[in-house]
Amino acid sequence: MKALADISNFQISEVGEEVCPKCGSSFKLYHTPRGVLGACKTCADRELIQSLNLPTVEDLQKMKLSKFVEQLEKVTSDIKNASVKGYKPTHESQIKAKQIVIKYINEFDGKKSIVFSGNPGVGKSHLAYAATKAIRSKGYTAVFIKSTYLLERIKASYSLNSNVSEEQIFDMLERLDLLVIDDIGSEYVKKNDGYETWASEVLYKILDMRIEKANIYTTNYTESELTDKYGNNGPRIISRMLNKAIAHRIEGKDYRRQEVF
Ligand SMILES: Nc1ncnc2c1ncn2[C@@H]1O[C@H](COP(=O)(O)OP(=O)(O)OP(=O)(O)O)[C@@H](O)[C@H]1O
Ligand SMILES: [Mg+2]
Ligand SMILES: [Zn+2]
Repeated sequence: MKALADISNFQISEVGEEVCPKCGSSFKLYHTPRGVLGACKTCADRELIQSLNLPTVEDLQKMKLSKFVEQLEKVTSDIKNASVKGYKPTHESQIKAKQIVIKYINEFDGKKSIVFSGNPGVGKSHLAYAATKAIRSKGYTAVFIKSTYLLERIKASYSLNSNVSEEQIFDMLERLDLLVIDDIGSEYVKKNDGYETWASEVLYKILDMRIEKANIYTTNYTESELTDKYGNNGPRIISRMLNKAIAHRIEGKDYRRQEVF
């Protein structure tokens, strides 16, 4: 055994480097009283962070995304409690619409889309929001948003005192498992103030980056009306809306009203 005096006089010196078999970083080896020793700092740091149980980058991203979802989603009170089960079809096309939604939820793979068109009050938003909630409860990130409101939020992001940039909004929209844009086409404002051009550009950009992802679009308009509406972007927008999508027109009477006047 070495005498204590020997050990206390021992000079620790660098003797080389080693590549960590776990992470591949290199670390220094030292000549010590207990032999040649060294430890990977990268791994030690990682173990320390793991032991603290801090959220990972992915966790943080997911948290940020769900906060964004909470802030972005605005739903009118008449559909807040909408469920698929609570949708009572009174027309052949509504039976079909309900079947489409049930199948969509059950087989959700984050890649297919639905386009619901039809007159007011036939339950397009009801079914779209019911699907949003059902898919969210399966653990996916999903946002239901009216097209007008989405554009408002993007416009507001241009303001200097906005706490979120346009780029951040697009980034979040791109990352969602399901994006529901309600009432596409209702964002019409007079053509001569340039808004419609801007709106169609932004919509095009969103639909383009959501291609091959899961989306639900609802609209009061027909395909040709929408194509007209968006001018140069019309065909490109429609083509993206219909990418891997089931398009279905819901008919029937307006559920909101009983009376005529
Ligand atoms: N078949 C149905 N069964 C139960 N409730 C329904 C049905 N259809 C519509 N509703 C209810 O009627 C109201 C209007 O429906 P919804 O908002 O879905 O209509 P919409 O097709 O989106 O109309 P719009 O084109 O005006 O946006 C909501 O409160 C919705 O929950
Ligand atoms: Mg609606
Ligand atoms: Zn290592």
